[in-house]
Amino acid sequence: VYTEIFQHPLPIPPLAQPVATYTNSTTGNVIEYYEMTIEKFALQTYPASQGFQATNYVGYNGTAPGPTFRVTKGREAVVRFTNLNDRPSVIHLHGSFSRAPFDGWAEDTLPPNTHKDYYYPNRQDARTLWYHDHAIGITAVNAYYGQAGFYILEDPEQEARLGLPQGEYDIPLMLAGKQFLRSGQLLSPEDERDSLYGDVITVNAQPWPFLLVEPRKYRFRLLDASISRTFKLYMVASGRPNQRVPFSVVGSDSGLVSTTTNTTSLVIAMAERWDVVIDFAPFIGQNVTIMNERDFQKNPDYAATDRVLQFRVGQTASSLANNNLPTQLLTLNLPAAPATVDHKFTFERKHGMWLINGVGFEDVPNRILAKPQRGDTERWTLENKSGGWSHPIHIHLVDFQIIGRSGGRELVENYERVALKDVVYLEENEEVDVIARYAPWDGVYMFHCHNLVHEDHDMMAAFNVTDLLT
Ligand code: C2O
Ligand code: CU
Repeated sequence: VYTEIFQHPLPIPPLAQPVATYTNSTTGNVIEYYEMTIEKFALQTYPASQGFQATNYVGYNGTAPGPTFRVTKGREAVVRFTNLNDRPSVIHLHGSFSRAPFDGWAEDTLPPNTHKDYYYPNRQDARTLWYHDHAIGITAVNAYYGQAGFYILEDPEQEARLGLPQGEYDIPLMLAGKQFLRSGQLLSPEDERDSLYGDVITVNAQPWPFLLVEPRKYRFRLLDASISRTFKLYMVASGRPNQRVPFSVVGSDSGLVSTTTNTTSLVIAMAERWDVVIDFAPFIGQNVTIMNERDFQKNPDYAATDRVLQFRVGQTASSLANNNLPTQLLTLNLPAAPATVDHKFTFERKHGMWLINGVGFEDVPNRILAKPQRGDTERWTLENKSGGWSHPIHIHLVDFQIIGRSGGRELVENYERVALKDVVYLEENEEVDVIARYAPWDGVYMFHCHNLVHEDHDMMAAFNVTDLLT
């Protein structure tokens, strides 16, 4: 099915390699030191023989996606980012409880030809994180042109115990909707005020790729790095276009889910990560295609936006080690739900701006909308009152639990129930309740819509985790 469009192999981003490893003589902590540049490069996405230019990008170490970090829990990282581009950048490690000065505050910009050393503690549970630009007002442009990469925090003990697919059977997939001009260049989101969905579906920056796989289980780390597109994914196998192939959700934004959830459909919105296990053993010699539901919310459909990625299943598996899929994965550390709501945040559009409780990030004196005491568990209601628009809401610093959805789906999805998250997709007219413990650090952190056009115009605010007993 649908083979014709899947012409090029899936690119796998290179691994980031530490330049040096140190042991802190006082604490005994191991620190890995990395160096990354932000620089221009070009990728020949469409054939030069047909008159297309190589597409201009600006990315980490000159690749898109950026190099994949694979770091081990308990080993700290320092990453020196040097900006060789002609625009400012800010680097945010999305999913990390970084201290505020290293969290990528949007105004803490790195001007051209300067560098900053970001410190990452790597002390959370194993998870799929990603690093991306967060520069004030130009995050959409910077991320869209390539400033985004994976950062995978691993816990070897946990992984060995569970026997989930690893190594070459553990593959990050960065999905993104893009729009190309006839020349081969990307259409810039610069002047966009609403959304840029894109008519081309890319995975790891390649439009509609294919991947050769063995008939065994694989773990895929899905990330929606689109500016504005949300996917509702399902899979079909060759010859059976009307029958959906089941797969298993094993991880979320904040690491493994407590219980493996089998499903035939998965919603993934901007900045969300879902780790899935797909078993190709029943599909020897066939194709299995990841598809995208048409007419999902207000995402516009184009000729091929219903297709994402095709797996071509070979005849034999070269290894069946780590081919497990346990049902119980871990015990989530869940705070008790406060009975009353601490804050209600309304996401809406006013006077052509995207605002939170009437405030945008430019409204400096008013933009701190919450002041949780460090260590407190708070219940926040996130309310979407912007008519036909959806908003994936990201809260920095914390992992949260989704405890209720109303006004739309009415139900928390099965795979959301067993997960901790740092992004929640707020559909049209929906109200979602999330609880989180505001810890471990004090400091001022952002929360915002992760539709990057909305974020830039100006659907972003802050909260101040404080130790003051006032
Ligand atoms: Cu993925 Cu505030 O960002
Ligand atoms: Cu939004």
